Amino acid sequence: MYRLVYRELRMDRNLMRGAAHGALIAIVSLIAVGAAYGETGAEAWLRYSQIKDGAASLPSRVAVVGNSGVVRTAGSELVRALEGKPGKPVPTGEIPSADAFVLGSWKDIHPLFPELARTRVPSGDGFWLKTVRRKNAKYWLIIGGSDRGVLYGMFSLLSRIARQQDVSTLDDSQSPSAPIRWVSQWDNLDGSIERGYAGRSIFFDGGQIRADLTRASDYARLLASVGINGCAINNVNADPRILSAEFLPQLVRVADAFRPWGIKLAVSVDMSSPMAVGGLKTFDPLDPDVVAWWKQATDVIYERIPDFGGFVVKADSEGRSGPSQYGRTAADAANVIARALAPHHGLLMYRAFVYNHHLDWRDMKADRARAAYDYFHPLDGKFLGSVVIQIKYGPIDFQVREPASPLFGAMPHTNQAIELQVTQEYTGQQRHLVFLAPMWKEILDFDMHVNGMSPVKKIVAGDTWHRPFGGYNAVVNVGLDENWLAHPLAMANLYTYGRLAWNPNLSAAQTAEEWTRLTFNNKPQVVSTNSKMLLSSWHIYENYTGPLGAGTLTDILGDHYGPGIESSERNGWGQWHRADEHGMGMDRTIATGTGYIGQYSPEVQKQYETLAACPDELLLFMHHVPYTYVLHSGKMVIQHIYDSHYDGAEQAAGLVTQWQTLKGQIDDDRYNAVLDRLQYQAGHAIVWRDAVVNWFFKESGTPDAKGRVGQQ
Ligand code: GCU
Repeated sequence: MYRLVYRELRMDRNLMRGAAHGALIAIVSLIAVGAAYGETGAEAWLRYSQIKDGAASLPSRVAVVGNSGVVRTAGSELVRALEGKPGKPVPTGEIPSADAFVLGSWKDIHPLFPELARTRVPSGDGFWLKTVRRKNAKYWLIIGGSDRGVLYGMFSLLSRIARQQDVSTLDDSQSPSAPIRWVSQWDNLDGSIERGYAGRSIFFDGGQIRADLTRASDYARLLASVGINGCAINNVNADPRILSAEFLPQLVRVADAFRPWGIKLAVSVDMSSPMAVGGLKTFDPLDPDVVAWWKQATDVIYERIPDFGGFVVKADSEGRSGPSQYGRTAADAANVIARALAPHHGLLMYRAFVYNHHLDWRDMKADRARAAYDYFHPLDGKFLGSVVIQIKYGPIDFQVREPASPLFGAMPHTNQAIELQVTQEYTGQQRHLVFLAPMWKEILDFDMHVNGMSPVKKIVAGDTWHRPFGGYNAVVNVGLDENWLAHPLAMANLYTYGRLAWNPNLSAAQTAEEWTRLTFNNKPQVVSTNSKMLLSSWHIYENYTGPLGAGTLTDILGDHYGPGIESSERNGWGQWHRADEHGMGMDRTIATGTGYIGQYSPEVQKQYETLAACPDELLLFMHHVPYTYVLHSGKMVIQHIYDSHYDGAEQAAGLVTQWQTLKGQIDDDRYNAVLDRLQYQAGHAIVWRDAVVNWFFKESGTPDAKGRVGQQ
């Protein structure tokens, strides 16, 4: 069809020259239909109703150059945004001699616009938005470094229009910070989701891939709009059946749903698969039959899904099978699978979340926080180039406050990715408002001091040690709930995750503002109030849950929700805060503690090792102190615990009143949905407050200087 389009085009003479070199051009029609978006949240930040106003002065033609499916998607999406419905290529259309958007990758656009300077050409998945004039026509060029880049450039342009930015003259070239920008879903084959809080799986149902994958392709569109390029669709606690022959045709269907949006399909695999689905007697990674099995299992996937992204592996962790069962290392195991993936350019994301969950809690030197470094640092340099070690941002497990994992600074010869969590497992499960960007930014900007200036964002991008691969993977867990993540404001986390993976130099305030404008509207009060609420929410949650780096104090043995102060103690899970009648905190110092601090570079050690230097917010993560210890803030630890919990509960109530000022400024549906959740949160914050302060009052016997505790 596209060849036909090419032949039938009557072209402007200048454009004709390039087309003669082989570029294919299609005009995408603008079909005028009224946009009718409900305000369920399903459209997330891609609400195009706001674009209409800004679009009046923009061209009404979209020309797609080249023959790539992804670029065609970009053209079609642009039309959808401008007119409310996906556009259709028009075989008899003309290349515009009037104003037009022109979309294509550099290799296709350059012959048409040879005057463009190569110096501005984006690398990788980057894009260049450029306006040029020719005779009486003006062109809005959306040029990709790759086909995906065209898609990202188009979404970036739409975002600017929706945020009322002037797009009449453009010259902006951007490239993503890192090549790996993935998400993971922890979906089970039966349709449930581990740590999912927004309904059942959009991918699986009853042990199969769903018949209707509309939501899967809608999800891919959302992900693409913020620059995500890969999605692992199943739980890291992987069901081996995902690699069975019967499943492959089903995976093909998901890959087909993702492909137009440039999202590579990936799956999580279990190390025991050669036995569980391959029928072998062993899954020892060094056994020749096992090696052959991984190669064959991988080859058949690529035969059917040539753009398959790769595998995510959780091994030797929380009861999962792993190479240690055969006395092999993570490198032995990872390399066997990576060798199978490498010829196809697939990646192996091997998770560093490996620890013993049967630690002896009485052993004051035992420390789960040490585990990832102790296990993986000695293996640095032993992993093949297509292995990426995926490291949770902190050394424990997605807590409300953790230091950056020391492993980021300890693997100069290994590709790394940071693992973040959009699904709010320990941070209020999308019933509480917690905008995680400020926390992620603290981690990404944290300087590991390992090779000159080496913030985590540069290390995971591969810049610090010139690694070929690196990047980001976040656990997202959207579900069938119409608005994807249940709490309407939780989508700010997914949006921001993508934006930071693209450009970790953005500030949390910038992404909060962008998201608010796109999701609601550009009214100044909406933008400022909602941004302020988002930006304060992490500290508020931290205030009424876990103080001073002690962890969330949540119920770690149950559903990880609500207060459970004692649940982390006297068991092998190692999420200890060691609170007793005298004091609290884990002594992780080199001098007297577990030695965890010694896993950092000397400069970082200095920031944590002494009480004098250690910042208050991580004090109890790094040190055990009496309740009477006086913080840098001037308060005693116990009084800080009391005050922060009262402050936090009050601040949570304040979120309700702030939101109420927006009544009438946004649609009622979403206004009411948010209000309900904030009111619930304010109540639950009081439950949290009272549980925590009463427990510490009873334990420490120290009265609240302000006389509140014990008086309710
Ligand atoms: C957390 C979470 C588990 C998950 C694990 C992981 O511990 O509670 O459900 O399996 O992380 O990241 O593998």
